[in-house]
Amino acid sequence: MRPHLKSKKMGLITLGIESSCDETGIALYQMGRGLLAHALYTQVAMHNEYGGVVPELASRDHVRRVIPLVRQVMREADVSLNQISAVAYTQGPGLGGALLVGASVANALAYALDIPTIGIHHLEGHLLSPLLSDPAPEFPFVALLVSGGHTQLMRVDGVGLYILLGETLDDAAGEAFDKSAKLLGLSYPGGPALAKLAASGRPGLYKLPRPMQHSGDLDFSFSGLKTAVLTLVKQSGNDDQTRADIACAVQEAIVDVLAHKARAALEHAGLNQLVVAGGVGANRLLRERLTESIGKRGGKVFYPDLEFCTDNGAMIAFAGALRFAQQQDKKDYRFNVKPRWDLQEIVLRN
Ligand code: KG4
Ligand code: ZN
Repeated sequence: MRPHLKSKKMGLITLGIESSCDETGIALYQMGRGLLAHALYTQVAMHNEYGGVVPELASRDHVRRVIPLVRQVMREADVSLNQISAVAYTQGPGLGGALLVGASVANALAYALDIPTIGIHHLEGHLLSPLLSDPAPEFPFVALLVSGGHTQLMRVDGVGLYILLGETLDDAAGEAFDKSAKLLGLSYPGGPALAKLAASGRPGLYKLPRPMQHSGDLDFSFSGLKTAVLTLVKQSGNDDQTRADIACAVQEAIVDVLAHKARAALEHAGLNQLVVAGGVGANRLLRERLTESIGKRGGKVFYPDLEFCTDNGAMIAFAGALRFAQQQDKKDYRFNVKPRWDLQEIVLRN
């Protein structure tokens, strides 16, 4: 069932604003028609100098980018302000100051236009983003959510119907990529840089631990990996080939655990569709490994288009449109942001 195609709110246009971390993402989604336009400004180059995201700089940059990007997508979609029916924004989790920028603009704009606002959970955006791609999965499916802050396996039965199957007990998969990359002297964000370096590495030369791979549950642990990488970096030479070989081993270890647990989650849930969401979902080896191992057991893996894997406004406009379709038109412009926000809190209960 494609719930977004069966709504009373067909044709209505939702503006989405993402500003939870270091990317300003803006998009317009029209119910029944799809994504009209989207734009992204990434602050990666600015934070690169500091080796990670500097929250205060991130907030200030969102302030500079949001309005021009809103204007840009409206121009591209040929949509005027009075055609917008709701404004969705990332309410959390994320950096408090950064979230406040998107929340303030969303509420101010909605107040001026006398239309509702919808606060979206960033991870719900990631969870639903594969539905933006073609072919899209159908409910129910298992989602592997792998980002810089989260590593979770969820059963998704519909919009707002999420059951947590397993999650990381410490570092997220993206964090494991980022921290290992830092130890290898690579710049932020480490995931793509490490994957690039690994391409010239020789597989199987170094063996790193696969934490909790055989724990019998669907949880993960990645904090031990960075200690093992640190030891390996100290013991081995620091020439380019060695660094590439280590990068290769790191990627192998992370991908191996993720693929193993994702397959186990499908078996546990008795489902055969896996959806991969979040920034680490852009990793090519992870994609190959999952497609192969899930395909072998007759399952199918869905990935959002690469641009929707990492943070973006399209997933927020889309999740906003789906939530908007389900709810009454509330116009209440008092808002708060939730830097820490458990996804379970937004689960709809029957
Ligand atoms: O979802 P995302 O853009 O931001 C949030 O954390 O919400 O994910 C960012 C994470 C970072 O840790 C980044 O290093 C990782 O995704 N990442 C990758 C790749 N592209 C992004 N990790 C491994 N391989 C990649 N190709
Ligand atoms: Zn994200």
